[in-house]
Amino acid sequence: MPRCIAFHSYKGGTGKTTIACNLAAMLSLKGYNVSLLDLDVYAPSLHAYFDYSPNKWINDLLFENSDLNEIMVDMTSTLTKHAADRTKKMGKLLVGFSNPQKDEIYRLEGSIKTANANIQLLRRFVQLREDLISDYESDYVILDTSPGIRYWSINSLAVADVLFLTLKFGDLDIEGTIKMANDIYGSFTKFGSKSFLLLNLVSGYCIPRTYLQGSQSTNKSNSSVLAEGTPIQIQTFEKELGSDTFLSDQTKMELISAIPCYCDIQFQKKEFLTVLQHPDHPFAKQLEQLTMARQIGV
Ligand SMILES: Nc1ncnc2c1ncn2[C@@H]1O[C@H](COP(=O)(O)OP(=O)(O)OP(=O)(O)O)[C@@H](O)[C@H]1O
Ligand SMILES: [Mg+2]
Repeated sequence: MPRCIAFHSYKGGTGKTTIACNLAAMLSLKGYNVSLLDLDVYAPSLHAYFDYSPNKWINDLLFENSDLNEIMVDMTSTLTKHAADRTKKMGKLLVGFSNPQKDEIYRLEGSIKTANANIQLLRRFVQLREDLISDYESDYVILDTSPGIRYWSINSLAVADVLFLTLKFGDLDIEGTIKMANDIYGSFTKFGSKSFLLLNLVSGYCIPRTYLQGSQSTNKSNSSVLAEGTPIQIQTFEKELGSDTFLSDQTKMELISAIPCYCDIQFQKKEFLTVLQHPDHPFAKQLEQLTMARQIGV
């Protein structure tokens, strides 16, 4: 400790932002100081989870060397509002947002075309991580990145101590993830960072009702069909996971966690922090377990 953790993936929509935000909130609830940064500079989305639009963005720090105090927004009050036990000492949760305006995104893309600008931006980025750890006493710096091999994702992976490569079950995702792991992750781990696979949106938790009715039960009542279905759901989930040493073997990365797909999270209209709003939700329990993984070091 302190640790810088980056969430990355081959394809989009694997749950990087969801897990990064919820993990940040969970660690703060446990008393750690956390800085969460939106490094998905091409399609920022942290503001949706925190329902907040700041005056200054990470972009202002990278381009204008703005004061870090103006960039990092103290979101600890969001935790306090939802915390079950308000007497418990919480850590500080600071969030740095990335500007979603298209001109700002073009500016970041444009600036990477000249080597000098590149080096200057990268220096400021490395300094940002250092300042968050030393001046802001962050126990954890969590980076949410863009999928694929993009300039700011690679920079994020380069400054992180722990890399979480998130993926969903599915051929397209798995093939690309294996290739990307072999092409680029090896070079980061050579310099001492540790990388892990994080499976998300694993099927088997939500089984279509028709499947349960058709194959498992003759009972006509929906509620009892679903009640009877519960053990089947768990079995399916475990069966899917059982076959996945293949992934670890192919990527040479340990599987750190496998999080099921929860329909109530997947189909919500508005993003929210499950660990705060529904601390008893199985997703929150999964995140709690993730914080306890030795690689996170809580
Ligand atoms: N375990 C889960 N169960 C159900 N829904 C989930 C789960 N994890 C994430 N989701 C949902 O999946 C969608 C995609 O998640 P998210 O935006 O976090 O992915 P991402 O990897 O950050 O995507 P992008 O690459 O586009 O930034 C969101 O609607 C989110 O609420
Ligand atoms: Mg995202």
